[in-house]
Amino acid sequence: MRTLLIAGNWKMYKTHAEAEAFCRQLLTAVASVPAERVEVAVCPPFTALEAAARVINGTSVALGAQNMYPEAEGAFTGEVAPPMLKALGCRYVIIGHSERRQYFNESDEFINRKVLAAYQYDLIPILCVGETLAEREAGVTRQVIERQVRGGLQNLAPEQAANLVIAYEPVWAIGTGRTASAVDAQEVNAFIRQLLADMFGAAVAEKVRIQYGGSVKPENAGELLSMPDIDGALVGGASLKVDSFTGIIKAAVEAR
Ligand code: PGA
Repeated sequence: MRTLLIAGNWKMYKTHAEAEAFCRQLLTAVASVPAERVEVAVCPPFTALEAAARVINGTSVALGAQNMYPEAEGAFTGEVAPPMLKALGCRYVIIGHSERRQYFNESDEFINRKVLAAYQYDLIPILCVGETLAEREAGVTRQVIERQVRGGLQNLAPEQAANLVIAYEPVWAIGTGRTASAVDAQEVNAFIRQLLADMFGAAVAEKVRIQYGGSVKPENAGELLSMPDIDGALVGGASLKVDSFTGIIKAAVEAR
């Protein structure tokens, strides 16, 4: 049984002081969550990572970053390197979020460099994939997902792939209040698992956690998370308030 991963993607919200206060409240709220069934992570902006780390490092709540540059160090003004994230105690790093693909022109090739760099520095990538509304309506969802999964995971060894996290996030469902139906999300997640089996073998594919993301809320989380190939949620808007985030975590505990 795969441990569900409920991860909060805070995007460009919360100062370091707000992050610290949020994490303190969150720890109290999730104290009784069984860690072997549901893992919880928060992904603050870079400037709030350290404040969050001071509160959650050494607890069951994991820390993740939202992005990174795929080099160890160097003259890359404005960028943040994987060892810097590792030193703060990050376990996860979100890679290839649709907002980065869309607003910062990140290609599958560049995203692949980041995935490989994450493994090199002992960070677990949460690789985001998902089709736009136009692509869904044109009936090319599977082609888009296949290109993003194969492109993003090139040259990855099967033993690395086993602890990977993939987040299926249909672009039309992000921040729009429109959620993919649990059946539609399950179908794409199962397709992603098939692709992984083809690339890395069935045993590895069974281990990979494949989340769903896009307007996940306490009200719809239970149905989504009860699907066999939906192994957690990447939560944006609803992860910014302790109440709604813990509502989703509770739904996850019930679904497992
Ligand atoms: P949302 O964002 O939950 O606000 O739709 C999800 C995401 O972008 O990861």
